[in-house]
Amino acid sequence: MNQERLAQFRAFLKDTIRLAVDFSQTDQHQGVPPPPLEKPFDPRAPRVRLPAPGEWSAIAATDLRAAIAGRQSHRKFRRAPLSLEELAFLLWATQGIRRPAGPGSAYRTVPSAGCRHALETYLAVLNVAGLEQGVYRYLPVEHELLFEFAEEDLGNQVAAAALGQTFCGWGAATFIWTAIPYRMEWRYGLAAHKVIALDAGHVCQNLYLACAAVGAGTCAIAAYHQEAMDRLLRLDGEEEFVVYLAPVGKVD
Ligand SMILES: Cc1cc2nc3c(=O)[nH]c(=O)nc-3n(C[C@H](O)[C@H](O)[C@H](O)COP(=O)(O)O)c2cc1C
Repeated sequence: MNQERLAQFRAFLKDTIRLAVDFSQTDQHQGVPPPPLEKPFDPRAPRVRLPAPGEWSAIAATDLRAAIAGRQSHRKFRRAPLSLEELAFLLWATQGIRRPAGPGSAYRTVPSAGCRHALETYLAVLNVAGLEQGVYRYLPVEHELLFEFAEEDLGNQVAAAALGQTFCGWGAATFIWTAIPYRMEWRYGLAAHKVIALDAGHVCQNLYLACAAVGAGTCAIAAYHQEAMDRLLRLDGEEEFVVYLAPVGKVD
């Protein structure tokens, strides 16, 4: 392997970049207002209200030790639907808002560097009771689902964009996380990118653990075709692009 290239890519995992960043020059320090904490949406677009934490009746109290001990990746799912309540719980567990944290910022159920939360959650909904198949986006502030668009043969399209990993399109819903890097760059400049990747790990781990409470399973997916996945979600691929995904379905 080319040692120079290796060193270059390994540097991404280090925090050396912090010493090179002049934080007085970041947009935050220059007085640029913070970007919105969730991607704006057309208020006329169809939205689905999600059951809120206090309204859940079917989410089993789950022993954390058992959930951690039993955590594993699932690549086979039953053909059973997820209920809207179960989906609401999984979305809350992965990106739900606990409380506001000041302008353009909110504390969520997962940690994030500088509380910047540069991720968005899209769902390829395939088999969720009461929801049409299609691509949706979670709106953490409203705790609602935004219907983005319907897509022919959605499950197979997700699987194809996941480089033929067919189970990615066979669950009840596939979580697809995008990054809006500017949300983190606004504060950290070139030191933003590693921490966005770290943040994504927390989100997916919470999904694994939350799945245990609803008889579901998931599998983290980092191998996918970047352009195909961005195209499928109709993203520009620069200001917002896919970073991670995870199909979710009921398991035995
Ligand atoms: C960052 C990351 C990326 C992964 N990407 C894939 C993937 O593209 N396809 C896949 O089948 N599994 C993927 N996995 C799942 C791992 O293969 C799995 O976690 C590992 O084999 C250990 O199994 P366990 O999760 O059941 O403990 C990924 C896991 C992580 C954390």
